[in-house]
Amino acid sequence: MNILITGAGRGLGFQLTKLAVGRGHQVVAGIREISDASEGLLALAVQFPELVRIEKMNVTREEEVEALADKLASESVELDGIINNAGVLFGREHKIDTLPMHLVRLTFEVNLFGPMYVMKAMSPLLKDHSNSTVINVSSEAGSMALAYGGDYPYAISKTALNMFSKQSNCELNPRGIRVLAVHPGWMRTDMGGGKAPLDASESANGILDILERKTFIKDELFFVDHTGRSMPV
Ligand SMILES: NC(=O)c1ccc[n+]([C@@H]2O[C@H](COP(=O)([O-])OP(=O)(O)OC[C@H]3O[C@@H](n4cnc5c(N)ncnc54)[C@H](OP(=O)(O)O)[C@@H]3O)[C@@H](O)[C@H]2O)c1
Repeated sequence: MNILITGAGRGLGFQLTKLAVGRGHQVVAGIREISDASEGLLALAVQFPELVRIEKMNVTREEEVEALADKLASESVELDGIINNAGVLFGREHKIDTLPMHLVRLTFEVNLFGPMYVMKAMSPLLKDHSNSTVINVSSEAGSMALAYGGDYPYAISKTALNMFSKQSNCELNPRGIRVLAVHPGWMRTDMGGGKAPLDASESANGILDILERKTFIKDELFFVDHTGRSMPV
């Protein structure tokens, strides 16, 4: 499979890239700045040059996303999967009365507009009727049923991402493409911190099983966790 992964340099994105390569997939690994490519990702690209392609893609810059899509299209690259993984968690400490609104805008730029720019530019490259899958990495924080009165920027951006996932699934389903919002679990990454119960590689393995359609997910579901279990909307 040929898979595009955003935020591939560290955290869950890097684990997804590493494990996808381990499964023999080709990965277009999007990172914000080529000069900031992590040692792990660079080493992977050196070890598997035919499977790892590092590309500059700040998901908040629509023109950068479009430029990469044009480049891939000019090489007749077709995609079997897209994982919109890049995400940010800002303003945790603020309740509504002190919430800096620029953090809300910034969060929406990465967590919602990013996946939208990517889908706008890259969905034409997805193969039709070949079990292509798009995974938008969401969070249980985006569940309305589990709302907890905090993390406004993050939680609301992920709720919107869930809706975008459902909308684009409805649109792309006739092409044989499935779009899912996936909660990866609480993971030990820079974002999740050291106390999280899950290793990011465990979550990445589950997400790849979903992408490869090894994990069966009922048609009516669009928000699941990394094991394929239904998440409350
Ligand atoms: N960790 C958890 O417990 C947890 C729980 C639920 C959901 N999630 C979701 O899982 C996903 C991955 O999280 P993580 O824990 O791996 O986070 P992380 O360790 O903080 O890594 C975030 C990744 O996103 C990239 N990124 C941020 N802004 C970007 C931009 N504008 N353009 C391109 N890439 C950008 C970062 O790249 P740079 O290196 O350039 O900054 C980095 O690769 C996120 O969507 C997050 O919301 C995580």
